[in-house]
Amino acid sequence: MARRKKAAKAKSKAAAKKSAKKVVKLRAKKPAANAVSHTPPRRSTKPWGEAGRALDGVKILDFTHVQSGPTCTQLLAYMGADVIKVERPGIGDITRGQLRDVKGADSLYFTMLNGSKRSITIDSKHPKGRDILDRLVKQCDVLVENFAPGALERMGLTFAHIHKLNPRMIVASVKGFGPGPYEDCKVYENVAQCAGGAASTTGFRDGPPLVTGAQIGDSGTGLHLALGIVAALYQRTRTGRGQKVLCAMQDGVLNLARVKLRDQQRLKHGPLPEYSQYGEGVPFGAATPRAGNDSGGGQPGWILKCKGWENDPDAYIYFITQAPVWGAICDLIGKPEWKTDPDYAAPPARLPRLRRIFDTVEQWTKTKTKFEVMDICNKHDIPVGPILSMKEIAEDKSLRDTGTVVEIDHPTRGAYLTVGNPIKLSDSPADVRRSPLLGEHTDEILRKVLGYSDKEVAEIKSSGAITAPDKPTKAEAA
Ligand code: COA
Repeated sequence: MARRKKAAKAKSKAAAKKSAKKVVKLRAKKPAANAVSHTPPRRSTKPWGEAGRALDGVKILDFTHVQSGPTCTQLLAYMGADVIKVERPGIGDITRGQLRDVKGADSLYFTMLNGSKRSITIDSKHPKGRDILDRLVKQCDVLVENFAPGALERMGLTFAHIHKLNPRMIVASVKGFGPGPYEDCKVYENVAQCAGGAASTTGFRDGPPLVTGAQIGDSGTGLHLALGIVAALYQRTRTGRGQKVLCAMQDGVLNLARVKLRDQQRLKHGPLPEYSQYGEGVPFGAATPRAGNDSGGGQPGWILKCKGWENDPDAYIYFITQAPVWGAICDLIGKPEWKTDPDYAAPPARLPRLRRIFDTVEQWTKTKTKFEVMDICNKHDIPVGPILSMKEIAEDKSLRDTGTVVEIDHPTRGAYLTVGNPIKLSDSPADVRRSPLLGEHTDEILRKVLGYSDKEVAEIKSSGAITAPDKPTKAEAA
């Protein structure tokens, strides 16, 4: 009986093996779309760290403009993706000419968001331009765009059309809002900061809502989109299929402001003791209030003046009264008695007295520069943060050493600073190169990526699909 069972098991194992082989064979017979260009690179024989970059072999059709989309594709380029930026002939990304500091040169707005990419000019509304775009769709892995809602579809690039040409393509979009009442709206950074809950919770209680300088709506959403793309690329290795990735700027900002939605729910159960308004006896309203420079976490903090604050707008430090180092703080600021005083010894007792505590700490910080406070406090493990100006950041040696701030040369504007990859991968050193000139790589991409012949390139050039229409003469315009 046992022998019969064993034989049956062996038979079914063999059948399973055979059918698995059959599946493999069947799959092998039907090559995936774009099989040649999407064959994964061979396993490298080089040691780790010398075997290329994380996203080598990934081709991005970059249809982004302004900030949110370009942030995303620049990060992917830093990680090794071949990013082909499609721009309108003669004009390009609108930011090339915005906030210009050097006459005739691409603005820093553009150069700092479009490094390490190639630029091709294509008029996406020209029939020949659409043909070129279709070829790019077939060749690329990801299309990234952040046009106003509906603009991509008006170019004929619907998801159905793209997937018919290339079922492996991932189509990644930034929009202002997700599906709902505002889905058709155009959105810029500060609209998203306001709609995502950041502005209503930023600023001082007795002042208006404030937007922050960090571009959490644009660059923040670009970061979210990059993560979505990488996840979709990974899933594609199992499914063989591309998918849509959508990041709404409102959602991205809300994700970054989630602690404020946390506080909204806590309000139902009483006042929020870590907010300084609690200690000041100011009642809470129906919504999460603005909290000035309160820390927003379990460890109270505030921005305090340092030596020189009268003349230097950035002579300040963020000071956190972390509970485990309370004793060290008391000693430093000359209040050793607070270590045992029942009004100050334990964190809950301190909460209603935060204003008094920070005023006292400030009497001490005002006698030191922000860097002196940093040095002294760090010796005692007291978390503090100097308010660094952009000038100080631009000149910071350690940020240069790590490649977070990078100086690059540019043919028309000369050297400029940019932010390198803030995400450090030990086997994939960041590939930070200057931004491309408008259409700098048009010829190279048409020939080498898309395989157009000399004759075809000449035809494309004379068709007007990649060049700006000639300005009308005065007579024509009249
Ligand atoms: N060839 C021909 N036409 C092109 C082109 C090309 N290569 N590239 C773009 N265009 C066209 C588009 O097809 C569109 O035309 P259409 O409206 O006639 O269909 C037009 O240029 C402008 O696109 P649009 O996105 O509407 O630009 P805008 O300057 O009016 O609006 C935003 C800018 C940012 C407000 C808008 O793109 C948007 O809301 N984007 C989504 C949210 C977002 O990313 N915001 C943050 C930006 S940092």
